[in-house]
Amino acid sequence: MADNSRGIAMVTGGSRGIGEAISRRLHHDGYTVTVLDLAAPEQLMTDGVVERFIQTDVTSADSIKTAVEQVLSAYGVIDVLCNNAGVSTMQRVVDMTEDEWDFNFDVNAKGVFLMTRAVLPSMIRQNRGIIVNTASMAGVKGVPLLAHYAASKWAVIGFTKSVALEVAQYGIRVNAVCPGFVQTSMQERELGWEGQLRGMTPSEVFQDYIRLTPMQRIEEPEDVAKVVGFLVGEDAAFITGEAINVTGGANL
Ligand SMILES: NC(=O)c1ccc[n+]([C@@H]2O[C@H](COP(=O)([O-])OP(=O)(O)OC[C@H]3O[C@@H](n4cnc5c(N)ncnc54)[C@H](O)[C@@H]3O)[C@@H](O)[C@H]2O)c1
Repeated sequence: MADNSRGIAMVTGGSRGIGEAISRRLHHDGYTVTVLDLAAPEQLMTDGVVERFIQTDVTSADSIKTAVEQVLSAYGVIDVLCNNAGVSTMQRVVDMTEDEWDFNFDVNAKGVFLMTRAVLPSMIRQNRGIIVNTASMAGVKGVPLLAHYAASKWAVIGFTKSVALEVAQYGIRVNAVCPGFVQTSMQERELGWEGQLRGMTPSEVFQDYIRLTPMQRIEEPEDVAKVVGFLVGEDAAFITGEAINVTGGANL
């Protein structure tokens, strides 16, 4: 472990959007950050935020095994895992294909399981560890056009609570954050899809997201990263199995 480090952190989907903000926050808090993503976090590496990038597909157990072995051989430990990689598509259930269902479940739900399974043995050996999963407000409520995505995020929360119970005895905490309408490339794609499905322009959908948010602004990736920073930190030392809404009230 690097001497100046508070610990070793891995962030999946840490190259852009919410994951990028989480990587920046963990680096700011003194963690040595490795990003596991399909795409490289070039700016984050230039900025010195991310020390290591391992091209990883979180739907592949082999790809994950290689990545976790690389991190363990470089640092010896994994203190923090942020399971943040995720995807979405939008469709009415009557028109939804099995491929769309599987794509959402493979990345959002199975990816969290595979990553957690790969990292837990080293955390159990260390008798400590912190896992934070990026779920969604779609994991605590129903969302039209996102039934498959919502189901995958409900799965993440069920998984979070269940693993938390299994590993609490080893000093490992497992929590989730549930963001609302966050301005990222995922949202950009959704504005177009939802606009087409609802006969609206992307900017009308965007205004709708703000209207649906009681705090009356769009959510920023940093809003989520701050709560991840809290969950990883000492002030959350006795919190496990929780799914914390970070939505400006949009989940209510
Ligand atoms: N944007 C929102 O409004 C919103 C709301 C609630 C929850 N979320 C969740 O937050 C997380 C991040 O979303 P975002 O909005 O930043 O999305 P994004 O599309 O901007 O970024 C997602 C990142 O995950 C990576 N990724 C995708 N599939 C992967 C795979 N198979 N293996 C490894 N990496 C992969 C992408 O390359 C990308 O860097 C997701 O889990 C998403 O479901 C987003």
